[in-house]
Amino acid sequence: MGGAEPLRTAEGGRARTAGNPVAPPGRTPYRRLMPELRTDRLVLRDWRTSDLDPWAAMNADPVVREYFPEVLTRAQSEASVAGFQADLDRRGWGWWAVEVVATGEFVGFTGLDPVEDGMPFTGVEAGWRLARPAWGHGYATEAARAVVSHAFECLALPEVLAVAAAGNLRSRAVMDRLGMTRDPADDFDDPEVPEGSPLRRSVLYRLRAGDHRPGGR
Ligand SMILES: CC(C)(COP(=O)(O)OP(=O)(O)OC[C@H]1O[C@@H](n2cnc3c(N)ncnc32)[C@H](O)[C@@H]1OP(=O)(O)O)[C@@H](O)C(=O)NCCC(=O)NCCS
Repeated sequence: MGGAEPLRTAEGGRARTAGNPVAPPGRTPYRRLMPELRTDRLVLRDWRTSDLDPWAAMNADPVVREYFPEVLTRAQSEASVAGFQADLDRRGWGWWAVEVVATGEFVGFTGLDPVEDGMPFTGVEAGWRLARPAWGHGYATEAARAVVSHAFECLALPEVLAVAAAGNLRSRAVMDRLGMTRDPADDFDDPEVPEGSPLRRSVLYRLRAGDHRPGGR
C-alpha cells in the first residue's frame, strides 16, 4: 500500500528511514536521528502519503479554520506537508503528524516552529490543529505536552511561545492546560491577517523552561 509510504521531500529524499535501518553484522543498530514522540495515546511522527487526504479535508473544514483567514485548497495542504517534512528532515523537529496509536488514525498536527519573520516577537512557538472528530479527547494537550517537553529537555530551548487569535478559546485552553501564561501587554495585531479582520487581534502565551511541569499541573 502506497499510503504508508513515508513522504519524500524535494531535498533529495529522506535523510532517515522510518525505523532503524539494519545494522551491519557485529554493529549496534543505528539510532534514528529524530525520535518519534510518544505519549500514552499518541505518536507524533513523520508525514506519510496516507496523511494527505485527511490533512486536506481538515484544512478545507471551515470550523477547523474558523480562526484563520481562509480554508486551504488541496494544493496548499500538500505544499504545507512537503514543507513540514522538509523541516523535520533538516533539523529533526517541527510540525509532526499526530496519530492515535489505538486506531492508527491520523488526526492532525502538533509541533514547534520558529516564529515567522515580521511578528512583533521572536522565538519558537508550539502549535496544534486537529480534525474535528479528534476534538474533546485531550489529544491536543497530550501531544503539546510531549512537544513542550521535547523543546526543553532535548532542544534546551529557554522558552516556548504559543499564539492564537484572541477569540480562539479552545486553543487558549490548551495553552492554559500547559501552564503557559499571557501578559495582556503582549497582545498584538497579527500582520499575516488582513487589516479590519476580527481575527487580527491575537494573544501571545509564554512558558519558560523553569516553569515547565512535565506531567501537567
Ligand atoms: C485547538 C484544538 C486543537 C483544541 O482541541 P480540544 O479538543 O479542545 O483540546 P484537547 O485535545 O486538549 O481536548 C480537551 C478537551 O477534551 C476533554 N477530554 C476528554 N477526554 C479527555 C482525556 N482522556 N484527557 C484529557 N482531556 C479529555 C477535556 O475535558 C476537554 O474538554 P472541553 O473542551 O469540553 O473542556 C482544536 O480546537 C482545533 O484543532 N482547532 C482548529 C485549529 C486551531 O484553531 N488551532 C490552533 C491555532 S492557534
